[in-house]
Amino acid sequence: MFSKDGNTKDVATPRICDVVWHNGEFIKWNDARVHVMSHVLHYGSSIFEGIRCYATKNGPAVFRLPEHMKRFLNSAKIYRMDHKWTLEQLCDGAIELVRRSGMDQCYIRPILFRSLDEEHPAFGVNPFPNPLACYIGAWDWGKYLGDEAIEKGVDVCISTWNRLTPNSMPAMAKSGANYMNSQLIKMEALLNGFAEGIALDDRGYVSEGSGENIFLVSGDVVLTPPLSSSILPGITRDSVIQICQELGITIKERTIQRAALYVADELFFSGTAAEITPIRSVDRITVGNGGRGQITAKIQKHFFEITKGERPAPGDWLSLVNTETASRPDNNGYKTDNSAKGSSSSQESEPVLKYQTALRD
Ligand SMILES: Cc1ncc(COP(=O)(O)O)c(C=O)c1O
Repeated sequence: MFSKDGNTKDVATPRICDVVWHNGEFIKWNDARVHVMSHVLHYGSSIFEGIRCYATKNGPAVFRLPEHMKRFLNSAKIYRMDHKWTLEQLCDGAIELVRRSGMDQCYIRPILFRSLDEEHPAFGVNPFPNPLACYIGAWDWGKYLGDEAIEKGVDVCISTWNRLTPNSMPAMAKSGANYMNSQLIKMEALLNGFAEGIALDDRGYVSEGSGENIFLVSGDVVLTPPLSSSILPGITRDSVIQICQELGITIKERTIQRAALYVADELFFSGTAAEITPIRSVDRITVGNGGRGQITAKIQKHFFEITKGERPAPGDWLSLVNTETASRPDNNGYKTDNSAKGSSSSQESEPVLKYQTALRD
């Protein structure tokens, strides 16, 4: 679906929510603007999330909202962004935004960044003098890697660009700056006629796609790189792990060599945007039967049934938008009472979420 020069628009944007959540208030889409001298534009100082809201028979339902907002808070903590937002306020903001949008399904984008104090402007790298701004926007987003990709799979390449090293840029933080690395991977892939690129880590082991985690199926075992391979701890990745456990499929975190991708029986990407997308070739070497493999199809079916609300999830994964029963984070693993001004919303004593430690061996 991509032209050789990579300029084809990768997705259509049928509908955008005309309001944006800004620091606890709702403002018009057209009023959600920043000064061109804002710190974020020059030094990449933003963290963000990507969350999907699915259409279900009970109305729109946001997929794993607290887990996404928890990762958002973790990213902010890593970058010393000392804000006042709590998990509960962010979750409530996202739910209310979807409610106001009137959309059945959409993609939700929270972002926290270093802005500009126009009365006391600061232009240096030092981020601390710059005020923080927090927004949540939403739009209707189709299939990220193309409509056919979910069924037929995508052709990918190994990127010449490595993923970030753990002591340069933390891959576990979803920061805007990390996506300069992702853009290099993506542009190279598109210009060479591939839908996506897979980056290796600094040791040469498989890391992830420019915007997706990766899974390999060998026989009846599913493997995925561990967090130490410089991956983003994907929420969809964690969902796949839990779905495999529910289906009785053996799933392991393992460092994976590039060549193992070529001889895999099946490969697939996971991600909020890409959902579960099969990979049919790597570097023009056909993977397995060159289409969607059986185990991938089984996991994908299970995943989509959960997101449509047709099958119970292994956990409380859907936050309903239009009922009072919308799932809210509780105190079991989440902190909701940390609204003191100036304090980080994520604290040392907080338990680590299950998805970050699942299957570590
Ligand atoms: C680099 C990268 N890896 C993995 C993922 C998948 O993460 P998630 O499943 O939480 O969307 C994403 C998407 O956000 C990503 O950008």
